[in-house]
Amino acid sequence: MPLLEVSGLSKEFDGLRALDGVSFSADQAEILGVIGPNGAGKTTLFNIISGIFPPSNGKISFQGKMIHRLKTHQISRLGIGRTFQLVRPFQNLDVETNILVASGHPYYPSFRKSFAPFRKPEILGEVQKLIDRTGLRLYARQIAKNLPLGIKKRLEIARALALKPHLLLLDEPSGGLRFEESVQLMELIRQIREQGIGVLLIEHNMQVIMDLCKRIVVLDHGSKIAEGSPEEIRSNPQVIQAYLGKES
Ligand SMILES: Nc1ncnc2c1ncn2[C@@H]1O[C@H](COP(=O)(O)OP(=O)(O)OP(=O)(O)O)[C@@H](O)[C@H]1O
Ligand SMILES: [Mg+2]
Repeated sequence: MPLLEVSGLSKEFDGLRALDGVSFSADQAEILGVIGPNGAGKTTLFNIISGIFPPSNGKISFQGKMIHRLKTHQISRLGIGRTFQLVRPFQNLDVETNILVASGHPYYPSFRKSFAPFRKPEILGEVQKLIDRTGLRLYARQIAKNLPLGIKKRLEIARALALKPHLLLLDEPSGGLRFEESVQLMELIRQIREQGIGVLLIEHNMQVIMDLCKRIVVLDHGSKIAEGSPEEIRSNPQVIQAYLGKES
């Protein structure tokens, strides 16, 4: 049984067909690339999988359970985590507290000094492990808004991992990053896969996609136009046309 199975997924926004009958599946511990020109429907696909909008048509099953009518919190509890195209941590909290809050523990700033029942050693221990796994040790006490974008993106991934997902949806994690930052991020994504977590990766950087993914799904104008290995995708005339068409 695939980890995720999307069948015949469509989404209309006021007459605009953002997704049109998209089907594919993703396996456990696989990094599946999702590419396509701007406006192809990639983020919409993630929004529907994570329950932000219901689909207009189609089905999604996750670990054999139908999820397309569930709410975001139910879907994240079942084990689907995500990051957003634009990073959105709590800007005024430090890295450690951002991860703590993401793991579902309440945060009461005014009580912080007097008593902090939620800062239990076992919970903090989990947070520390995540900080180490995501390479954030040096930044643990820094306030999110002061962090460079590459570190903010890691923090977003740490926050998504805090809910112990089986599938992670990453929307352009290397967008806006310098070359070295994106190399480090690729390494982190590889480690996540090695821990048995499936990853759907939206990415504009072809080098990143080609290096990380054995299989890629290509969307254009809401439809799936191709699916295959990086070599197959690179030489697919429809894919080349979709990208060239957007440049003119
Ligand atoms: N909430 C919404 N309401 C109305 N239209 C929307 C909404 N979200 C997306 N769209 C439209 O759906 C289409 C697909 O958008 P989407 O954001 O999914 O594309 P994308 O592939 O993620 O593009 P990009 O590479 O630029 O991030 C676009 O035409 C967009 O304007
Ligand atoms: Mg997008």
